[in-house]
Amino acid sequence: MQTILVTGGAGFIGANFILLARRLQWANIVNLDKLTYASNLENLAEVQADKNYNFIQGDIANFELVTYLLEQYHPDAIINFAAESHVDRSIFSPQEFIQTNVVGTFQLLEASRFYWHKLSFEQQKKFRFLHISTDEVYGSLTPQEQAFREDMPYAPNSPYAASKAASDHFVRAYYHTYGLPTLTTNCSNNYGPMQFPEKLIPLIILNAIDSKPLPIYGDGQNIRDWLYVIDHCQAIYLVLKQGKTGETYNIGGMNEQSNVKVVEKICAILDELVPQPNFHYSSLITFVQDRPGHDRRYAINCHKLSHELGWQPQENFDSGLIKTVKWYLNNISWVNQVRSGSYQKWLKQNYENR
Ligand code: NAD
Ligand code: DAU
Repeated sequence: MQTILVTGGAGFIGANFILLARRLQWANIVNLDKLTYASNLENLAEVQADKNYNFIQGDIANFELVTYLLEQYHPDAIINFAAESHVDRSIFSPQEFIQTNVVGTFQLLEASRFYWHKLSFEQQKKFRFLHISTDEVYGSLTPQEQAFREDMPYAPNSPYAASKAASDHFVRAYYHTYGLPTLTTNCSNNYGPMQFPEKLIPLIILNAIDSKPLPIYGDGQNIRDWLYVIDHCQAIYLVLKQGKTGETYNIGGMNEQSNVKVVEKICAILDELVPQPNFHYSSLITFVQDRPGHDRRYAINCHKLSHELGWQPQENFDSGLIKTVKWYLNNISWVNQVRSGSYQKWLKQNYENR
């Protein structure tokens, strides 16, 4: 079986990927994660005792550590999930985003390039460096504009998006300059189990069950294209196995929703699952000051992925959202652990003066 070095595997998408990879016997996994506030080793409890899973706490920007791990575990592929991922945090403190997303990806590429050079010709041909990126690098669409295609110019608008765009450019450069067999995926908004509740969907679920205000930025008409996280993970594996090196692949849910619609759907699900005698959850909706530079609309054209590699999302938004809400209701110990002091500090910083 192949070995994959996964970075950022204790976060939301990385953990979902690792659990799936081990359940479906896709590969042995080595997980390198710095364990920032966004991570949670509880996400990986199921594989903790699995002898084909190894966890190492560390930073992708640590060239010596990454070099050591590559020599130690000899992976056939690297999937780089590790990143600072929250747009609002990038507005308050962009530096960490440059450090991990740009410098970290660069150091990971450097270590990978030296490792790859030392492989046999056959191993070199099989090796893959898959970089997980975002649709936010393409900027913002008007309601009339066509969905993002892979050949569209980059136009990042937030410090987060700019840092991801920079990392994507380095990945591209390492393919063209050094021949490192890279692939990049640009995905739309994910939702599902184990997402840190700074992001819209889990934040709304947790605030609602606490009967707290449900903050919607601006007029709530911003549009995102939502994809269930397991569909994203399946697409990543497909690109890893069958994608053409040097290429980028868009991944999306073909599921554009305004923020207000998303929040109303969550409220309706909670009205069914945990009805309140005195109010409907939607009465908690509160419009708050907008996010600076808030992108109006994202939409993904993933024709290349579906046409060339045969991928289709399996989950529909209504059933995926119900599963997600139920996951948070059924995992209160996870939720309580996450709602620690540092999370409270973040809520204060982001919402108190809105
Ligand atoms: P997340 O914030 O939930 O998890 C990120 C993980 O990376 C955490 O476990 C964290 O500890 C780790 N990490 C951070 N800095 C690190 C470093 N320097 N070295 C090693 N590990 C480090 O993020 P996510 O939502 O799971 O996103 C994963 C990737 O997918 C990111 O690259 C993100 O840009 C991309 N992406 C996310 C979405 C989404 O909707 N969440 C959509 C498209 C693309
Ligand atoms: O598009 C892919 C991107 O999706 C990923 O690259 C990012 O890592 C991920 O965080 C996500 O970015 P967004 O900014 O779109 O996600 P977020 O959940 O923060 O916000 C979704 C929408 O909801 C956005 O329009 C802002 C709005 N929002 C968000 C929060 C947290 C609110 O209205 N209220 C809120 O409290």
